[in-house]
Parts: sequence; C-alpha cells; structure tokens
Amino acid sequence: MTEQDPRALLLRYLRQRLELGVREWVFERVDAATLIEVLRSGFAPAPDPFDALRAEALVCTRCGLCETRTQVVFGEGDRRARLMVVGEAPGSEEDRTGRPFVGAAGKLLDTLLLSVGFRREEVYICNVLKCRPPGNRDPRPEETRTCAPYLRRQIELIGPRAIVALGRFAAQTLLEAEASLSRLRGIEHRYEGVPVIVTYHPAALLRNPLWTRAAWEDLQRVRRIYDDVGGRPPRGAAEEAALG
Ligand code: URA
Repeated sequence: MTEQDPRALLLRYLRQRLELGVREWVFERVDAATLIEVLRSGFAPAPDPFDALRAEALVCTRCGLCETRTQVVFGEGDRRARLMVVGEAPGSEEDRTGRPFVGAAGKLLDTLLLSVGFRREEVYICNVLKCRPPGNRDPRPEETRTCAPYLRRQIELIGPRAIVALGRFAAQTLLEAEASLSRLRGIEHRYEGVPVIVTYHPAALLRNPLWTRAAWEDLQRVRRIYDDVGGRPPRGAAEEAALG
C-alpha cells in the first residue's frame, strides 16, 4: 500500500478523525469514485493472470485482423498442461466457434494425439495468431510480430514440459528460425529451455496422407520426451491400458 493508494488515504483520513474524537464517519471529503476504488481493491481477488491475458486478447485490436475476424481464438485445454500444441492461425470453423482446431484438421489432430496417449482436453492447444487471416491467407510478418507476445505469455503461464509445433509457420515462429520444415523436423529444439518437436500441420496431412506415418513417429518422440521429463501419465494412455 503506497501513500497514494486510496486505501492508505482513507486509512489516514479515518485515523485523523478518530484522533479528533470523531467516531462518526462523514463522507464529505471522500468522493464516490475513491470509495468504490477502495472497496474494489480491498475485496476483489487479484485477477488470475491467465484470465487477464485471455480477456486482453479477446478484445485485441493490435493488428488489422481484428476488422475481419468473427472472434478471437485464444486457445483451449488444460491450463496446467504439460504438453502444448501450437498451430498457425484459426481457420473458418475456428473463427466461427472461437475454438482452435475444430475443423477437419482438428479432428485429425485429436486422432494423432490420442494415438500417442493424449486426450485433447489434457493438453493445451493454441495458435501463433489468435485471429483468422481472411481467406486463410498466410500470416503477415507484422501480424505475427504483434500477436507473438500472447503466445509467449501463454507458454510462460502454462509452463509446459514439451511443445509440439504444427507446421512450418508455427515452428519458424517459435524457434525464430528460417529453415524449412524438413530441416526442422526430426530434431529436438528448445524454446526457453522447453523441448520443442516440429511435425507436419494436420491440414498438410489431409492433403498428403502418406506423411501421416512420419507425423505419428514425430508424436511418438514427443511422448518419449514427455515421459522422460516426468509428465503426468496421459489419461488417454491410461484408458487404452485399462481397455487392455
Ligand atoms: N489450422 C491451424 O493452424 N489452427 C487452427 O486452429 C485450425 C487450423
């Protein structure tokens, strides 16, 4: 509480009045706005930083995509997830529903995750860009620059033990790299010390089903890293084991 904090001012005011023997509180020197501020700061719990970030993103106007989006697609899943999955940008279904990876590519992503033991709800799924580029065009550098802080903060707050980058754009953005997807795949990278595995974007797999096996191998590597760094046993895997 600083000297200028409304609570400090109110406390000083009340103490002075008490010293003067005035026990009755007279409002004349405290305006309503100050009093509201005092009551708010005294009783409102500090906002959860993740909720605060989400609230900020949901009304973001930092780039021109705010004019064409239907809604911001912040991300979804377990906020304490040990595994984060990062895609490129919302498509039309995501823009309509406000949820990441819910279209055809999303269904394939769910299947791939489950094939290595992860249920969708136990990981955290988001994109580099939180708003849909019109007509699904490629993200522009200035859009990536202005949106990247949201992803950076999401990663900081969630604190995953491993990250999967889906496709070239997500990989290059996360790793600040310019190499092609084929060069980035197959190697374990680091983002702020967190292992990052790069794989094909599920939309690319829908166009090129023959790459699916390689993507599955990438995800198996993710699962091995996840197990090595002591991630909680994924629930999808536990269910599979229980079914025998
Ligand atoms: N493609 C992406 O990169 N992200 C989505 O959320 C959907 C499709």
